[in-house]
Amino acid sequence: MIRFYLMAIGLSVMPLLAWAGGADRGEELYRVFCTQCHGISGDGNGINAAHINVQPRSHVEREGMASRSDEDLFRVIKEGGPAVNASVLMPAWKGNLDDSGIHDLVAYLRALCCEE
Ligand code: HEC
Repeated sequence: MIRFYLMAIGLSVMPLLAWAGGADRGEELYRVFCTQCHGISGDGNGINAAHINVQPRSHVEREGMASRSDEDLFRVIKEGGPAVNASVLMPAWKGNLDDSGIHDLVAYLRALCCEE
């Protein structure tokens, strides 16, 4: 019986974990993989920015970000700068991140640029 209860609790927590994806998980991934160039606040002033000759994009600037579709953001994160005619200094992340992680990053970028 107790086993049954444990299983029932486990099953009811699982959807909560899946729900915790999206922008929150995107923020965690952003901290790990993106801030060294794009900055902790997403303004494009990461510690590498001074050392590369193409400046990382600011992700907090609404105007520039609004001109990109979610598909564009997904593509540039997955395939790297050249996939959208941007610099190779924007790496391709497909070897490190799966599609669901990239979707979560796109959700976080949208929250950063465009939500009050
Ligand atoms: C090694 C530095 C570096 C890292 C790390 C990096 N980027 Fe970039 N990123 C750049 C540079 C440089 C550009 C600007 C490219 C250009 O304007 O040609 C850029 C541009 C972008 C753009 C805008 C592309 C466009 O449409 O113009 C997006 C979106 C982006 N990066 C997302 C990310 C995300 C998400 C991560 C983490 C998974 C990340 N970047 C990690 C350097 C980096």
